[in-house]
Amino acid sequence: MEQAGALVLFGITGDLARKMLLPALYRLTADSRLDLPVIGVAKTDLDLDGLREHAREACGGVHDAAFEKLAGNLRLVAGDYRDPGTFERLRAETEGKGFLVHYLAVPPALFAAVAEGLAGAGLNDNARLVVEKPFGHDLNSARELNGELLRHFDEDHLRRVDHFLGKEPVEDLMVFRFANMLLEPIWNRSHIRSVQITMAEDFDVRDRGAFYDANGTVRDVVQNHLLQLLAILAMDPPPSTDARAQLDEKWRVLRAVQAIDPADVVRGQYTGYLDTDGVRPGSTTETYVALRAYIDNWRWAGVPWCIRSGKALPTTDLEVVAELRRPPVTMFANGDAPESPNLIRFRLQPDAGVTFDLLAKEPGKQHARPVPVSVDFTKVLGPMEAAYERILLDAVSGDPRRFARFDLVEESWRIVQPVLDMKEAPLPYEKGSWGPEPAAEIAPGGWHEISTTFD
Ligand code: BG6
Repeated sequence: MEQAGALVLFGITGDLARKMLLPALYRLTADSRLDLPVIGVAKTDLDLDGLREHAREACGGVHDAAFEKLAGNLRLVAGDYRDPGTFERLRAETEGKGFLVHYLAVPPALFAAVAEGLAGAGLNDNARLVVEKPFGHDLNSARELNGELLRHFDEDHLRRVDHFLGKEPVEDLMVFRFANMLLEPIWNRSHIRSVQITMAEDFDVRDRGAFYDANGTVRDVVQNHLLQLLAILAMDPPPSTDARAQLDEKWRVLRAVQAIDPADVVRGQYTGYLDTDGVRPGSTTETYVALRAYIDNWRWAGVPWCIRSGKALPTTDLEVVAELRRPPVTMFANGDAPESPNLIRFRLQPDAGVTFDLLAKEPGKQHARPVPVSVDFTKVLGPMEAAYERILLDAVSGDPRRFARFDLVEESWRIVQPVLDMKEAPLPYEKGSWGPEPAAEIAPGGWHEISTTFD
């Protein structure tokens, strides 16, 4: 894999660059993890000094040596992405810089035009193309977009960003599963009754009305982030540590996931959504979804994988709860109440760790009650790297494991397509609630309350 000599950042004055990419570049520069020319491309009136000031603000107004180093690495090519002249100027700016990484932090409608512009100037040779999400709007458009990009960059030189794959707690799941013998023997249909994945956000769609309304929760986070998470949780152990082995296993498990049955789905929309700027009158876009997926393979057949996500929920949390089957004989029940099942909770955001809900004898009594056994990873292991730092390092080094390979993207679109095709209006829910009431039925036995923090 080729190491980049320069990073070309399309959309350097845009939102994603301001919020995520520039601050990540700053931290990487400050820790001496990255030091290379960063050539910004944008349709902008700024000159290079203006861009440097813009970057400084994005990085929190810093005036230290690390920022000066980053500023010194910055270059700017201003121009329209559909104008061949922009790419000619880019060619002059990148001359002699070696292997190039073109990072497209621009709206997806421009991906193909930029790839074509790059190819027109010969900038697709000796280069890798990295594109942000969303990758397509459904299976067909994803295939079409892929075909357009493949005309100029082969799969080995294409990377599709899913920033969840850059999150350390997400990768920790794999370590937890495959570095400990504790879990793997029970990680299957014989011992696990259900798995619940909750991605809750306590904020609404804010100023992203137009974007969100064209997408909805399923396209925004389920097709990509949450199915990637499911793949990591459900896949078989890869036979080796190389990236391809990992990606192959993820693909194998996604291929076994049945397309979601609309009967296993509840879509919701929070009250007040229709008043958001950019949202179409009478829009039926969902801001909440709860669904059940089934995996047709030997490990998981019959086990419901329940996923829920939404905006304007009571909290901002990402948590996975696996519920184990109950012991075959009940010995320590408290009266008529059934014994609580063991739970394994993987907490991914805002803090990271794992909690086992085990049963212990209530002192002085003959019955058991659940007690949590927890490890707070941050407390024990120290702070984690931010997702975009890892994504940028991988973009530069070329390691493909934390990107979405196209066959995985295809499978995920296939899995959610019946949900995208649902015509009925979403059910209303109040802001600050856990979504529409019927969503409670999606998880057998109800959704487990998610844990709060570790303190
Ligand atoms: C983005 C979605 O991909 O992920 C947003 O477009 C969502 O709607 C965000 O809020 C969540 O990412 P994170 O890293 O903040 O959990």
